Amino acid sequence: MNSSLDPARPERRPRHRHHVVPISAICVPHVLTVTSGKGWVGKTNFTANLGWLLRQTRRRVMLLDANLGLANLDIVLGLNPAFNIAHVLSGEKTVQEVLIKGPAGLRVLPANSGIQSITNLSEGQKILLLEEIEALKEQFDYILIDTGAGIADNVIYFSLAAQTIIVLITPEPTSIIDAYALIKVLASNYHQDAFKIVVNDVANEEEATEAFEKLTQITDHYLNVSMDFLGVIPHDPCLREAVRLRRPFCQVFPDGPAAQGLRRIARRVAEMKHNPLDCDLGFLWRTALMSA
Ligand SMILES: Nc1ncnc2c1ncn2[C@@H]1O[C@H](COP(=O)(O)OP(=O)(O)O)[C@@H](O)[C@H]1O
Ligand SMILES: [Mg+2]
Repeated sequence: MNSSLDPARPERRPRHRHHVVPISAICVPHVLTVTSGKGWVGKTNFTANLGWLLRQTRRRVMLLDANLGLANLDIVLGLNPAFNIAHVLSGEKTVQEVLIKGPAGLRVLPANSGIQSITNLSEGQKILLLEEIEALKEQFDYILIDTGAGIADNVIYFSLAAQTIIVLITPEPTSIIDAYALIKVLASNYHQDAFKIVVNDVANEEEATEAFEKLTQITDHYLNVSMDFLGVIPHDPCLREAVRLRRPFCQVFPDGPAAQGLRRIARRVAEMKHNPLDCDLGFLWRTALMSA
C-alpha cells in the first residue's frame, strides 16, 4: 500500500519533492516492457532514450536490462557497472545495491554480459527478482524493461510482468512475421490482449503505416487483440554515432528525425493511464509468475 493513500495520514504532501505527481505515481510505477519478435530492431536504443526523455519531465525512471547474458543498455548509456542482475539472482547483492545512476539521473539495473546467457530464470530466481523490485516500487514512476527478442521464456515472463507491452517492428517482412509470432504466443497462451506498436527505422510515414497495417491485418484475422499504433521513428544516421559516443541519441542529436519521433512517443507514454485494476504490482507479478 502506498503510504500517501493511508487514511491515517492526515496530509497528502509528497515525501519527496516533485514538480508534478502523475496519477500513476500515487499508485505504483507504470511498468512497460519493450520487446520484439526479431532481434536488432532498436529496442535497447528505444528503451534508453524513452527513459531519458521521461527523466526530462522529472519522472523517476528505472531501466531494467532483461536481455540476460547479452547486456547492452549499459553500453548505450556509457556505463561500466561493477555489479549486475546476475549478482542479484545469485543472492550476493540486492537490486538496490546493483542499481546504478545513468545520464540525467536514470536508474539502471544492468544485465550481465558474455559468458553465458540466462535464457530461463528458475522459479526461485523469478520470485527473488519480483520481490526485490516490488520493494522499490515507491521510488519510481516508470520501470522500463528492455528484453531480448523472440519467444524465449524470459521475454514472455517480462512481458507478463508489465502493464504495457510495446512491440517494436521495422518495415522488414521478417520483423513483422516474427512480431506476429510473439503476439500470438502472448495472446493465445498468456491472455495478453493489448499491444502498443512502434515502427522503427522507416524512410517515411507511409512505410510505417504500411508496416503497421500488414501486422494488424494478420492479427485482426487470427487473434482477438487490440493493436495501438504508438508511433514511428525514422531511420537516422545519428543513431550509429550516438551509440559510438555511448550517449542517448535524444541527448546528443535532439534535432534529428529519430529524436523528434521518440519525443512524440514519450508524450503519448506520459499521457497513458495504466489500468488501475493492475495497480497492485505484486498481484500483477505473481500472475506473471504463475503463467510463465
Ligand atoms: N531509427 C534508426 N535509425 C538508424 N539506425 C538504427 C535505428 N534504430 C536502431 N538502429 C541501429 O540498429 C542497431 C540495433 O539497435 P538496438 O537498439 O541495439 O536493437 P535491439 O536492442 O533490438 O537488438 C544499432 O546499431 C542501432 O544504431
Ligand atoms: Mg537490445
